[in-house]
Amino acid sequence: MTAPTTTTTTTAPGKKQPAGESHGSGDPFDGDVLPTPPGATAALLRSLLAPMRARVAFTSLLLLLQQAAVQAGPLLVAYAIDRAVPAFRDHDNGPLIAVAVGCLLCALISGALQYGFIIAAARVNQDVLLDLRGRIFRHAQALSVDFHERYTSGRLISRSTTDVESLRELLSEGLQELITVVLSFVYISVLLLWLDLGLGAVAVASFVPLYLLVRMYRQRAARVYGKRSTAMATVIVKFVETMNGIRPVRAFRREAANDADFAVLNQRHERTNGDALLEMARYVVGSRLVANTAVALMVLWGAYRVADGSLELGVLAAAVLYLRRLYDPIDRLGMFLNSYQSAAASLEKIAGLLAQTPSVPEPSAPRELPPLASEFPGREVLFDGVRFAYRTGGEVLPRFDLTLPAGQTVAVVGSTGAGKSTLAKLLARFYDPSAGRVLLDGVDLRELTVPELRRGVVMVTQEAFLFSGTVAENIAIGRPDATRDDIERAAKAIGAHEFISSLPDGYDTDVRKRGGRISAGQRQLVAFARALLADPAVLILDEATSSLDIPGERAVQRAMATVLQGRTAVVIAHRLSTVEIADRVLVMEQGRIVEDGTPAELIAETGRFADLHRAWRDSLA
Ligand SMILES: Nc1ncnc2c1ncn2[C@@H]1O[C@H](COP(=O)(O)OP(=O)(O)OP(=O)(O)O)[C@@H](O)[C@H]1O
Ligand SMILES: [Mg+2]
Repeated sequence: MTAPTTTTTTTAPGKKQPAGESHGSGDPFDGDVLPTPPGATAALLRSLLAPMRARVAFTSLLLLLQQAAVQAGPLLVAYAIDRAVPAFRDHDNGPLIAVAVGCLLCALISGALQYGFIIAAARVNQDVLLDLRGRIFRHAQALSVDFHERYTSGRLISRSTTDVESLRELLSEGLQELITVVLSFVYISVLLLWLDLGLGAVAVASFVPLYLLVRMYRQRAARVYGKRSTAMATVIVKFVETMNGIRPVRAFRREAANDADFAVLNQRHERTNGDALLEMARYVVGSRLVANTAVALMVLWGAYRVADGSLELGVLAAAVLYLRRLYDPIDRLGMFLNSYQSAAASLEKIAGLLAQTPSVPEPSAPRELPPLASEFPGREVLFDGVRFAYRTGGEVLPRFDLTLPAGQTVAVVGSTGAGKSTLAKLLARFYDPSAGRVLLDGVDLRELTVPELRRGVVMVTQEAFLFSGTVAENIAIGRPDATRDDIERAAKAIGAHEFISSLPDGYDTDVRKRGGRISAGQRQLVAFARALLADPAVLILDEATSSLDIPGERAVQRAMATVLQGRTAVVIAHRLSTVEIADRVLVMEQGRIVEDGTPAELIAETGRFADLHRAWRDSLA
């Protein structure tokens, strides 16, 4: 693997510079560059903070007052040296007591204010991060299937963990540092100039090399931190992908190769981390050099002036104290810049994700389905001049016209890659056609309200995914308000009741826990029961019985004869036994229908289906 040739550009929020996760062309994680629209990052930050404007203002006010209390310290020292000590020598201890009380009060007030600030700031941070993580989840979930085919779950995880975390660091530590630094710069500059114009000028002059240093560091840090965050993301992606595919990894003995790949990525991350630390170290050394030079100059010149009587000793002491204080947080400013860089990069990636729009959008003017024409739940399906191509690759459906009358059970057969699943996914509206329309009882799927679409079309696929939870909960996904009776009835109808009853806790067995492990075929039965419970107008079965044994499939088929009664059904299957329950058979090749008729008609002819059927018969004999 080659190192990335382009670096991730990190821009400050609001800077108009399109960027995203740019990797070099040799990077295996190429291909998911999400361009962040200009201004999106700043807009995201604004929208996160807008609801808490008042609280942010209050929190800032607390810090403003706290800093004022802190910066009073050296002034009291100056007063003590120049006034209170001479007065004490003259047996007047009032000023000295005033200084002591003043110091104590400042400490108490600043402590109390800091306490309030920490709590107030933490609350604001919590709410911002809660909001952001919720937005990422909701948005990612709402994005269409084709987005998730490109953007791996590893990336999503890294968005909602590492990236949110780096924003947390910025908000909880970095931002406080920055405000403290800025405030103390302002306070101290004003106080120093007020105490003594000359000494103040020395301090202000030292800001020039400091500014140059900070600017240089910022540029370098942007580069190394961008690289570091990209390197971290690739580590997570590799990790998640490997663990998601642990079965093929085992089956093909990929462990050693994966270890080697992972070691490379891990080392890359470590290297970028080292680079970042090095930059940080250079910055700290540089800023200390500037600070100490300034202090030395001030002491030299101040001592000279104290000697010739044009400066009071207390003022010099206070000025030196202030200058030290001024440079104290400068190290931490570096920390802030770091967390700022990573947070800016992270926020930009998050903004890029949140700027994605679903390719299957919700309707702006949703329509409901017309009332059912008969007592049966089925509805008419019409593919009207549909053309479709996946994002990658050529056209899968060239121009497709098809009418499925309400209540018809249609079997779709055809060779692998013919476009059967694509047809099913268009009907379930996982994708929208590039041209033409898919209509359900005359209403374009794109216009249907979400609940109507959900009740209209349900698809059961080969994968039959089960969520963590009990078997009953998994079935109830089909209709959340279903009672236990409804659930059991659906399971019985499909022939799943027996195996569910034999599980350790029956319907209450947790499917992900020990003892709750259920086989691929059993998963399909649960998925069937779920679909049945949903009671859709159109039921699509895409290889939905592929993992069942022959008796199991027979049982499901018998059940389906009643289940599909009056429903419009599309059954896709390679095993022709499934076709027997169909009213009509479509043979699909390369995105087109090449044969269309009842099973008996097609068998009697000499086409593809007759051949397939004969071969299948022979295989049974
Ligand atoms: N997500 C996708 N992105 C890009 N191309 C795809 C995608 N899914 C399928 N294709 C392509 O579309 C064509 C049709 O695929 P489809 O899954 O519809 O075939 P199928 O008839 O269901 O095949 P099978 O019998 O193997 O399930 C194939 O050439 C396939 O490579
Ligand atoms: Mg398929």
